[in-house]
Amino acid sequence: MQLTLSVTAFVSALFVAGLSPAECKADLVSCRLWTDAQLPGLSMYGDFIIGGIFAIHYYTRSEQNTYTRQPLQPQCSGRSDSTLRFARAMEFTIQEINNRTDLLPGITLGYQIYDSCSAVSMSVKATFQFANGMDPFFNETDSCSKSAAAAVPALVGDSTSTTSISMARQLGLFGIPQVSHYATCACLSDKRQYPAFLRTIPSDHHQAAALARMVKHFGWTWIGAVRSDTDYGNYGMASFLKAAQEEGICVEYSESYYRTQPRSKLERVANVIRRSTARVIVAFVNSGDMRFLLEELARQPPPPMQWIGSETWITDPDFLRFNMCAGAIGFGVPRSVIPGLREFLLDLSPAQALKSPLLTEFWESSFSCSLKGSSEGARGCNGSEDIRALQNPYTDTSQLRITNLVYKATYAIAHAIHDEGCEMCSVSINVLLIYFLFNHIPLQILNQLKRVNITTKNGYQVLFDSSGDPVAVYELINWQVKKDGSLEFVTVGHYDSSRPRGQEFSMSRAISWMGQQREVPRSVCSESCPPGTRKAVQKGRPVCCYDCIPCAEGEINSLDCLRCPPEFWPNVQRDSCLPKPVEFLSWDDTLSVILTAFSITGAFIAVCVAAVFYKHKTSPIVRANNSELSFLLLFSLTLCFLCSLTFIGRPSEWSCMLRHTAFGITFVLCISCVLGKTIVVLMAFRATLPGSNAMKWFGPPQQRLSVLAFTFIQALICVIWLKISPPLPLKNLKHYKERIILECGLGSAIGFWAVLGYIGFLALLCFILAFLARKLPDNFNEAKFITFSMLIFCAVWITFIPAYVSSPGKFTVAVEIFAILASSFGLIICIFAPKCFIIVFRPEQNTKKHIMGKVPSKAL
Ligand SMILES: *[C@@H]1O[C@H](CO)[C@@H](O)[C@H](O)[C@H]1NC(C)=O
Ligand SMILES: *[C@@H]1O[C@H](CO)[C@@H](O)[C@H](O)[C@H]1NC(C)=O
Ligand SMILES: *[C@@H]1O[C@H](CO)[C@@H](O)[C@H](O)[C@H]1NC(C)=O
Ligand SMILES: *[C@@H]1O[C@H](CO)[C@@H](O)[C@H](O)[C@H]1NC(C)=O
Repeated sequence: MQLTLSVTAFVSALFVAGLSPAECKADLVSCRLWTDAQLPGLSMYGDFIIGGIFAIHYYTRSEQNTYTRQPLQPQCSGRSDSTLRFARAMEFTIQEINNRTDLLPGITLGYQIYDSCSAVSMSVKATFQFANGMDPFFNETDSCSKSAAAAVPALVGDSTSTTSISMARQLGLFGIPQVSHYATCACLSDKRQYPAFLRTIPSDHHQAAALARMVKHFGWTWIGAVRSDTDYGNYGMASFLKAAQEEGICVEYSESYYRTQPRSKLERVANVIRRSTARVIVAFVNSGDMRFLLEELARQPPPPMQWIGSETWITDPDFLRFNMCAGAIGFGVPRSVIPGLREFLLDLSPAQALKSPLLTEFWESSFSCSLKGSSEGARGCNGSEDIRALQNPYTDTSQLRITNLVYKATYAIAHAIHDEGCEMCSVSINVLLIYFLFNHIPLQILNQLKRVNITTKNGYQVLFDSSGDPVAVYELINWQVKKDGSLEFVTVGHYDSSRPRGQEFSMSRAISWMGQQREVPRSVCSESCPPGTRKAVQKGRPVCCYDCIPCAEGEINSLDCLRCPPEFWPNVQRDSCLPKPVEFLSWDDTLSVILTAFSITGAFIAVCVAAVFYKHKTSPIVRANNSELSFLLLFSLTLCFLCSLTFIGRPSEWSCMLRHTAFGITFVLCISCVLGKTIVVLMAFRATLPGSNAMKWFGPPQQRLSVLAFTFIQALICVIWLKISPPLPLKNLKHYKERIILECGLGSAIGFWAVLGYIGFLALLCFILAFLARKLPDNFNEAKFITFSMLIFCAVWITFIPAYVSSPGKFTVAVEIFAILASSFGLIICIFAPKCFIIVFRPEQNTKKHIMGKVPSKAL
């Protein structure tokens, strides 16, 4: 057992050192590779060979498979010089590590770098070669144990999600760690499917969420979406759309395209973009596909659009030539600096370039000459070509973004190897190699990689979470127009997923939008509805497209039309409810000031008349007119005038109860005095007739009693009213929609109408009696005046009723006060004015004779 193991270890050690096991051991079972092994584009031998796969070419032309013969090797075309830089950066990193004495001392790392041409078939083939070695023959009985000795302990790559996924599926089976610098698909975070996959670029999960939040932040609810028809585009767009939907963003169209699809598809997508109404377009597109799309759009430019890009193309300097993308924004991997890389990249001699087919192609196409001497019409390179004078993405090291992720990935692998075997590093290189082979190397290194927590030489931390993802750190990049009219990348903000939720995003500079405008472009399907209207979704269209329909009266709109609570009413903008104004006849109202003045004046007049009467109480005219009832009448009139004041002011429980009862009782007192006077006139006439003693039946005691009785009845009605259902303050919300009338409720309508009816009854009675007495031959017949005053009284109150019933509000109260004042003034003027006139201005008529009608009157 011990022997077998050490033999296997030895054999494998030789294998790792670059020798094929087939040369050492003859065996029975033999397998042969179907095709020739693909040669690495760049390689170097070392104690450990680290694999690298980069999509240096972005286009493969593969013929239709006939399945009758072996498929041909796909033809790669369309070289990306920036990806070539990534591959060279891996070379640089490995050389830098080899030069270090603290990391893997005494051990040399080598590399084998393949070009996947962004094609799954190419990357899968390279992966198999990494897992099995490049030997064309496979002579082994126990093949499973052999697979443990993979050609590489770990590899870096690939540049695209789709190829990385197919690689990760195979590498996961063997536990060979793969650290990708550019595969962003969120699907790769699933460690059950891709157990050996790690990456130094953040998952699109973060980017999609950050993009959706940004779109929401700038208020764009109507967007277009294009994506690569690859795992990168489809998964990335799906998570963006999911996040966008949660933010309430609507998508006008979502188109996909892949570079190998027919041209008609590309034209269709371009036409959808040209015709769209959304001004904002989110493009989750690979650089390779974006190039085709932008070239197609440039043939017939669409109206200015606000482009929002995914990190692949938004940071690709190659696209800065498309001026129609000015103002584009998107999240990119932060820019970084790698000291020494530029010198390494430029330190390329024609002789060195000749050693690698990739570099030969690069050199020849960059300088349009042939390194292998002039042939087939091509000019031979004559040595005057200067790579330092070359202006292309390979030599441009001003925007090192993904390059730094290659650097980090390579460093992480080197540290993992170091950590796994560092205690043996000092012992002997051979012991270390045997130790690794004794244990399953790739799996050991995978475990170490998961624990890596290092800082690279240029100061960046490398750390993987449990999904093999790094902390998501992005820069918000804006394509701004320089003075000379060309575009440049400007970092305007940052995103860091390690910061607390809600604070991941920070802006540091102003964004220059499409068309170089300073204000945020608008992209909405329907403008927001003006106040007082609500949204009505258009049938069959997204929720962001709607018509505005006016809200009903008394409704406001915040999201939908809402009815205000009963005591509230919308403001002018119709966006909030305000308490309705409360209306009542207040003391500071001009109307109430005027009415108060009249009421006080009336009361004053009544007092003055009483004073005049009192002064001349012995004069015939006063005595003839039943002075006791006159004084009582004046007193009650004073109260009538004053009781109108109880109607002014904010209705309260007390004032409501007081105003109607005071009014009712004082008026009854007043009218019963007048009634008493009328009866006295009637009786007095009777008394003048022979044989009558009518006066005896209606002397002063009876007069007092009747006034008291009439008033008592009214008081009784009022007490019953107050007891059963008193008038109380009431908020009348029904009559006017936009204001509240604070009024005195009637409590019981029967009570109110009983009080009024009783007054009316007495007034009518009084009127009839006075009417009967008006013709009686008395020179100073009061009945005439009483008839007249009662006529006024009834007229006033009959006109009052319709006014009262029709329009509640403060004017009704004013009308009521007016009726009280008018009828009181009517009474005082009709009954007392003529008498006062005689007393004050015609004292000669104030004689008994005159009053008895013996002298013909001129005055009346
Ligand atoms: C493996 O098998 C092939 C084909 O049978 C043979 O050509 C080759 O020599 C063998 N290799 C070794 C090391 O035996
Ligand atoms: C490594 O060291 C060699 C020899 O000193 C030097 O030529 C080379 O530039 C160094 N490479 C790096 C990447 O530092
Ligand atoms: C090399 O070729 C270029 C282009 O034809 C020419 O301009 C240059 O002078 C040549 N240099 C030498 C040293 O022949
Ligand atoms: C990584 O190392 C740094 C210091 O070197 C340490 O502060 C940090 O907590 C480490 N992170 C993890 C996840 O172990």
